[in-house]
Amino acid sequence: MTRDQLDFDNQPQGSPASGSSPPRRAAVEDMEPGQQVQETYLASSKEMRTTKQGKPFLKLKLSDRTGTVDGVLWDDAEEAARLFEQGDHIQVSGQISEYAGSAQVKINNIQPVSPTQVDPHDFLPSTYRDIEELQGYLRFHMESVHDRDYRRLLDHVFSDSEFLERFTRAPAATRYHHAYLGGLLEHTVSVTSLCDHVAQQYPRVNRDLVITAAILHDLGKVDELNYEQAIEYSDAGKFLGHVTIGAIFISEKISAISGFPKEKADQLLHTLVSHHGELEWGSPKRPKTLEALIIHHIDNLDAKVKGFLEIVEGSRNAEWTDLRNLFRRPLHIPRAAHQEEDLIPPVRPEDPEERGPEERG
Ligand SMILES: [Fe+2]
Ligand SMILES: [Fe+2]
Repeated sequence: MTRDQLDFDNQPQGSPASGSSPPRRAAVEDMEPGQQVQETYLASSKEMRTTKQGKPFLKLKLSDRTGTVDGVLWDDAEEAARLFEQGDHIQVSGQISEYAGSAQVKINNIQPVSPTQVDPHDFLPSTYRDIEELQGYLRFHMESVHDRDYRRLLDHVFSDSEFLERFTRAPAATRYHHAYLGGLLEHTVSVTSLCDHVAQQYPRVNRDLVITAAILHDLGKVDELNYEQAIEYSDAGKFLGHVTIGAIFISEKISAISGFPKEKADQLLHTLVSHHGELEWGSPKRPKTLEALIIHHIDNLDAKVKGFLEIVEGSRNAEWTDLRNLFRRPLHIPRAAHQEEDLIPPVRPEDPEERGPEERG
């Protein structure tokens, strides 16, 4: 599949561009309490549950490219559950309500949708960032690496257009942060840019090693996750995880480069296998070099900051989120920015021509 076939512009499907366009779809991000919906969504999660009175009900997560919303069906739930599997597309009729500060679809009816009627890519969440701009940042960082060996390795990895395509498309996670198409590229560019600042701050840092490791640190996610029908762990992801997949991948690429110095390979591979920081967080090794320590903390910083922002942006509460989130505590929702009255007024221009008529001498 080529980039042109991928619609990364993140426009809601059917957004009216002309009078003949189909009606705008009921996108998850636009849902408001009281709204009626009859729309197709990906059933990204499906669970049968039972009320305290013993009545079965169906709890779903409904997704499109703009987000995911909870759905609940109280009546004839077992019958409806037999119509589809998790990961199928379904047409849902119901009404939007609000539960614990979030939107919820109270479902009246579910109809299965044939796979031939949908393009699965339209239902996966996608970055709102400009993909070509992100690729430009990635290229900029690669070209800033002056070490001949690390640069050869980066060129070798990303000159494979099929790999670049998958790297560009991959999410960075199944939940919590960057769990959408393009998320891996976005996270990689962010980590690398932050590492660039840190490397400038501390002259003892091997900048070329840090930048190379930042670009490559999560590359194993390309194979750790599936992102065709739904975003979920692949078999390789369950067996090995992205840290191991990435280390094997990079080892093989290094082996294909003649004369790649062993010490540089060891230093780079160490940053990759230690980037989760602690053994209980999935790191085979804890960081033992300055560069590995930086990668670990910056990676964690970017994941936590983005995770925080995704939680508060998805919350409908005015001031605080609930505690069902990555941090397991209520989070304060920041104001949009400084209010105008908080800002120091701009310095008045010296040029009398630029002043208002009443200010000219
Ligand atoms: Fe990672
Ligand atoms: Fe990461």
